Parts: sequence; structure tokens; C-alpha cells
Amino acid sequence: MSDADDPKCDPSPTGSEPDSKRDHSRREFVRAAVASGASATLAACLAGESSVTAPAGVAEPASLPDRQHAWNDASPTDADGNVRPPRHHVFWNLSLAVEPDGAARDTVATALAALERALEWSTDGLLFSLGYTPAYFDRFDASLHESVDLPPPDPMVVLAAESDVTVDTTDALLHLVSDDGAVVLAAEEALFGERDRLNGHAVSASLDGIFERTDRRTGFVGAGLPADRQRGLEGVPDSEPVPEGAPFFMGFRSGFRESQATEDRVTIREGPFAGATTQHFETVELDLDAWFDEHDHEHRVARLFSPDHAEREAVGEYGERLDTTTDVTAVTDEIHAHARDEGIVGHAQKLARAREDGEPLLLRRDVNTTDGDVCGLHFVSLQRELAEFRRVREAMAGEAFGQYGLGPRQSNGILQYLRLRHWGSYLVPPRSRRALPRPNPKA
Ligand code: HEM
Repeated sequence: MSDADDPKCDPSPTGSEPDSKRDHSRREFVRAAVASGASATLAACLAGESSVTAPAGVAEPASLPDRQHAWNDASPTDADGNVRPPRHHVFWNLSLAVEPDGAARDTVATALAALERALEWSTDGLLFSLGYTPAYFDRFDASLHESVDLPPPDPMVVLAAESDVTVDTTDALLHLVSDDGAVVLAAEEALFGERDRLNGHAVSASLDGIFERTDRRTGFVGAGLPADRQRGLEGVPDSEPVPEGAPFFMGFRSGFRESQATEDRVTIREGPFAGATTQHFETVELDLDAWFDEHDHEHRVARLFSPDHAEREAVGEYGERLDTTTDVTAVTDEIHAHARDEGIVGHAQKLARAREDGEPLLLRRDVNTTDGDVCGLHFVSLQRELAEFRRVREAMAGEAFGQYGLGPRQSNGILQYLRLRHWGSYLVPPRSRRALPRPNPKA
């Protein structure tokens, strides 16, 4: 019996719905499965050969771009020309279970290349990256090459006293993404030895036994997804305020091309890790009750963009009036006047002040999450050096506006609605060095 004939595998309640309704039910079902970490049986149904049909990968994975983070050219753009991020995301924190020797390195390399042979490097197929923490590199006698800026993760750079933040002390972070949730589930299974075929290709090696999986996190981004997920979610007002067109829970578009660093800008240029990038990952919980119930739309635009954007009605309901730019640099000089006279500074307005020669330093790839049934954001950013992230994150803390009475609980951007929960830093090596890298590979 094929998966399609198996009633256990049919997401529709009756198993006999019309095609359009059935497709919708299946999408809902797959989405829920990605978020929950489907049971083996369920995942097998979802990700079985008959239900995962994706474009095939390449015979020679070495022909793919050397940067693991080369996702932009493999992603579609929206109607305005901004990169449209992949819709479904799974993150695994991994702890190394063996010595990082040559045999382990070969196994990891083979297991990762199998994904690239089976699935196209695209959002229709699969994109992924494997990054390593400072704790991973600590086990070696040699130090991490000086061309890499990867200090131990330290959330205190932005926190005065808040507790309850976990720091990632595992060894690696795997990030798997696709527009098709079933592809992410199938790739996850293949990578950890729970299936030996993927999209019609044999899988001959797995990470099982090399890494232990610790925490699984999930994310999603795209118009319609947060609006769907807000229903019945704790901490979200009953009025279900997130607009259908908004890709993010706070109700607005983000990631406009001109406020994102390019992949070139975030890439390490020299040394044994040329082609790598550094990755920051933090999880914040969102207080959507307060965000939507305490203020009107105009105030939310002022807080997220700037008071000027709110006054000019420049943003629209969820950002549809913007194209590839927020034009926020036009109001960065006015920020002190806005703080003093209007008692508000915008998040984007604050953050744009941290650009260098007019260019953003961070390539943001953040996603919504409902992990633990809490509404939140996994904020992922790439930058050449962690010090650049730190500078931008300090700009977000906005301490300079305390002199106008704007502390973190006042109209100082969106700080008031965020609670930081998790924080980690990684080196995402070039593809050629992504399997258990030594800290100084040419030495
Ligand atoms: C729930 C949390 C967050 C939300 C809803 C959010 C939303 C937004 C929005 C709507 C924009 C303006 C649109 C755009 O330029 O893409 C923006 C810009 C930006 N955000 Fe956030 N953001 C959040 C957290 C963060 C965090 C934690 C950082 C880390 C430093 C950050 C860094 C930036 C940067 C660098 C910009 C671009 C500024 C520029 O134009 O140069 N955001 N964000």
C-alpha cells in the first residue's frame, strides 16, 4: 500500500475531501508536524517517498556555492524584489558524541552531501547550514584562527539584570529550511539515520552516533502563516489581530532589501575560513497581548519604524506601501528630536544608526515560532564579525534615550514587548570545511 492509500497518512478527517480542501488540510497537517516534531510513524507517512516529491539535487555537491549561507540566489523574490525567506525551519542544537577525528569528519561530510544529492539547493528543495559554537572549538589545543571573531556568547551585552536566558553551550547548530515542511521532516530523518532513502536517492551515512541531538526548535515565516497560527495561541488577543498579509507575528513585513546586508558583506574574506560567516541566534518571547491591545496601529508603526513613518502613513496595514526600502535613513538624524518631543523612537530608526557607510551590517534571517506554545521569534543574523552584531544589538538597547525618560519599558522601539530566552553564537564554515572543522585548518 502506498502512503497515499494509507488512511493513517491522510491528513483530512474523512480521507475523502475534494482536492483543494485536501491540499489545504495536508499543508496544515505538515505545518503542525514540523512544529511538533512528528512521531516516527507520522513523519514516515508525511515524508515517505510518495509524499515527498521535490526537485532532485546535484550529482557533485562540490559544484554548489562554497558559502553555506548562499541562500539568496536559491530563494525566490517577492513582487517588490525582496528575497522571500523559506517558509519552514527546523533548528537542532547538537552535542558531539565522539572525537572529531578523520573518520567522524568523513561521515559528517558524506551525510551532508547526501542531502545535496537528493534535494535541489533551493527553497523548493532544501537549504541548510551547520555552524559551530566557541565551545566546540575549545576542545582543541589550537585556538580558532585569528581571522574569525567568535567570542563566547554573552547576552549580558544587552541585559542589565534579566535572568532566565539560556546560553547555547552545545557544539553545533543545524538549520534546515524549505518551503515544503514535509521536505524538512524527511531531510531531518535521513540525516539522523531514520530513513535510508530520500527523494529517490540512497542515504549511506548519518549524523547519528556522531552528534547527540539536544534541543529541537522550529520556525515559520510568510504571509498567512502567523495569521493562521495566532488562533487559540496563549498570549495572543482573541481578536486575532495579526493581518493575513503579515509574514511576522508583530503584524508587519520585514527584511526589505536595502535594510539587509548582502551575503558578500557578511562573508569572512581571508584566512582558512574564507567563505564562512558568523551566526547569531536568539529566541525572544513576544507579548502580543500588550503589543496589540495597548496601542493603535499608528503607535505600532511609530514604535517599529519611526514616528515620521506613522505620521506620513508610509507603511500601510502591514508594510504593503514599502517596496525594497523603509527609507528609514531619512529619519535617523531626527531621532533625538523624536525622543524628546514625541516620546517615541522607532526600532528600525534606532537600528539604522548602526549601519556602516550607509550599509547594514546584518543579514537577518529571523522566523516566527510557537515552540512550547509560546508566541516568539527566533532571531537569526549573519555578519562577518560577532563584534558587528554586538554593536547593532547595543544600538537596539537604546540606552542613549534614557536621558529623555525612554527606558526599556517605555516607547524605546519594541523592547517592552520582547523577553529574551536563548542566545548562541556560531561559525558557519564554508561548505568545504563544514564537517567538524579544526580551529586552524591549514596549520
Ligand atoms: C520581535 C523582534 C523583532 C521584530 C518584530 C523586528 C522587526 C523589524 C522591522 C519591521 C524592521 C524594519 C523593516 C526592515 O528594515 O526590515 C526591522 C529592522 C531591523 N531590525 Fe528588527 N525586529 C526584531 C528584532 C530585532 C533584533 C533582536 C535585532 C538585532 C539586533 C534586529 C535588528 C534589526 C536591524 C539591523 C534592522 C534594519 C535597520 C536598517 O535599516 O539598517 N531586530 N526589524
